[in-house]
Amino acid sequence: MFDKQEFISQKPKEAWIKYRHVIAWTLSVIVLGVVVSLRYLNLPLPENLDLTFCPTLHAILNTLSFFSLLAAWFFVMRGQIKWHRIFIQCAMILSTIFVLSYILYHATHAPVTYQGEGLIRTVYFSLLLTHIVLAAAMLPFILLTWMQGMGFNWAPHKKLARWVMPLWLVVCATGPICYLMLY
Ligand code: HEM
Repeated sequence: MFDKQEFISQKPKEAWIKYRHVIAWTLSVIVLGVVVSLRYLNLPLPENLDLTFCPTLHAILNTLSFFSLLAAWFFVMRGQIKWHRIFIQCAMILSTIFVLSYILYHATHAPVTYQGEGLIRTVYFSLLLTHIVLAAAMLPFILLTWMQGMGFNWAPHKKLARWVMPLWLVVCATGPICYLMLY
């Protein structure tokens, strides 16, 4: 439990806390604005650049984020905050690579249309809608929770993290499921 006491006794860091709302909401608006604008973009790719591996990469990155988050949750429940932080940082890095690669891929490729019919089609679009809506809605709250953690702002961190963690896990799980159904 020494690990936990070491973290809990840290004083809140002003720099991480003061501007967290401005940073989280500004970054979220920029990322979501870029993602929405991808629908209207179809930029040409240099001939020697093949990005067809990207959808598979995205599914792998989401799956790895899912397991990093599970590990981060497991370790915080055991009071091992160092490992909680390590796995959260893994999830943040994997998710950042995912967002950048997603933007690059969708700026240069038209979306693939789902071919399934009947019940499976309803299941697919329900999962896709859940994934898209939750991913967009969760982004500012994930950033806020992360900055509260980095700023040692524990009480608000715990309060927000309790619902951010499960919803973030849903986002990471529904992405690869949609990928498997589509390809
Ligand atoms: C988006 C990023 C993060 C998420 C989703 C997250 C998630 C969680 C969750 C689910 C809890 C348990 C809440 C409860 O039920 O009491 C928690 C607590 C905690 N987290 Fe995070 N965390 C994140 C970032 C961080 C960071 C960067 C640190 C830095 C060390 C950190 C340190 C802690 C600490 C010290 C606790 C309190 C442990 C306790 O008092 O039992 N977290 N976090």
